[in-house]
Amino acid sequence: MPRPRRLIAALAATGLALGGIVGSVLLTAPPASALANGLALTPPMGFNNWNSTQCRADFNESMVKGIADIFVARGLKAAGYQYVNLDDCWAETTRDSSGHLVPSHTRFPHGIKAVADYVHSKGLKLGIYTSAGTHTCNKAGFPGGLGHEQTDANTFASWGVDYLKYDNCNNQNVDAVKRYTAMRDALKKTGRPIVYSICEWGKNKPWNWAPNVGNLWRTTGDISPNWTRMLSIINANSSHASVAGPGHWNDPDMLEIGNGSLSNAEQVTHFSLWAEMAAPLLIGTDLRKASQHTFDILSNRDVIAIDQDSLGKQGVIISSSGGLVVFTKQLANGDRAVALFNETGGTRTISTTAAKAGLKSASSYTLKDLWSKATRTTSGAISASVPSHGTVIFRVSAN
Ligand code: GLA
Repeated sequence: MPRPRRLIAALAATGLALGGIVGSVLLTAPPASALANGLALTPPMGFNNWNSTQCRADFNESMVKGIADIFVARGLKAAGYQYVNLDDCWAETTRDSSGHLVPSHTRFPHGIKAVADYVHSKGLKLGIYTSAGTHTCNKAGFPGGLGHEQTDANTFASWGVDYLKYDNCNNQNVDAVKRYTAMRDALKKTGRPIVYSICEWGKNKPWNWAPNVGNLWRTTGDISPNWTRMLSIINANSSHASVAGPGHWNDPDMLEIGNGSLSNAEQVTHFSLWAEMAAPLLIGTDLRKASQHTFDILSNRDVIAIDQDSLGKQGVIISSSGGLVVFTKQLANGDRAVALFNETGGTRTISTTAAKAGLKSASSYTLKDLWSKATRTTSGAISASVPSHGTVIFRVSAN
């Protein structure tokens, strides 16, 4: 049927040769045609319950409403956070007699539409989750969307859902491009603008095809709140920078700031590098219990501005040696965001130059440290002492 053929036609229309070289071409050149639903022109910002509650009973209507309230009361909405997203376990385990998904009677006694209405009344948006398989990932056996794409897309649209995360469990080995394209087309048919988040864990090289299918796609398996896992995700996600752009983003998974065993330096690295990589910023901690320190990290407007820059470039690594890594990210006004990242076990000085970071030639440059807020002027050297596992991120402007 036409779907795979349509993808091939779309690739051919970009002027790219088909076959073995498509992958490598797409790794070095952004796709000429991306999903044109007009959404997620900057990386989505919001909240998702999974990293804090998983499937526990405290994932329920009162949590979701509470998060929306906190977005407003604690300035997160003003800082750009918008989507309040439900993950797995929101449904009953069986569809109703006409084949529709049913919200859990215990977690969401008033249904999802009531929650969406509440979230919308705060000027925010609601996201939901299902899987491109027969069932979602949780072993309780919640129904998935495979073969039910239009019914489920229509249900989500009728509830006022604004964002769908579409997972990969129980996929029956059906071709991934086919499965994710089917839901893309179903969402489009609803006529409702719904951000489309592909969650196939980087299994089928989504960086080669997902820019035409979804607004964002996971590049890796699940994050967990520890250094080793975060580091491996940074390494994997940073290699796909060229395919990211307005409306189509690499997704290194949701934030773990405020969770688990991440040190302060590691949390600063997490937020700085997610911004440097133009990643979705989906808060994964239960904000009802979060410390002021967690709010302070998540609310750093200077770092958020790097993530949300309208040019939509993902930062790239310009040097990496002995665990000392330098990223640069091109920004709309000609500035660069330069991140100096120290993977090692001790404090290190990391250095680069304005020229290497891609700035135009100038007699001097202003460096703003986006965490300490200190500014200084340099004739070109960019250097800082960076704590173990930490990141110093500068906004660099040519004078
Ligand atoms: C998968 C996804 C996670 C989360 C869980 C829910 O593991 O990758 O992000 O949605 O399923 O079961």
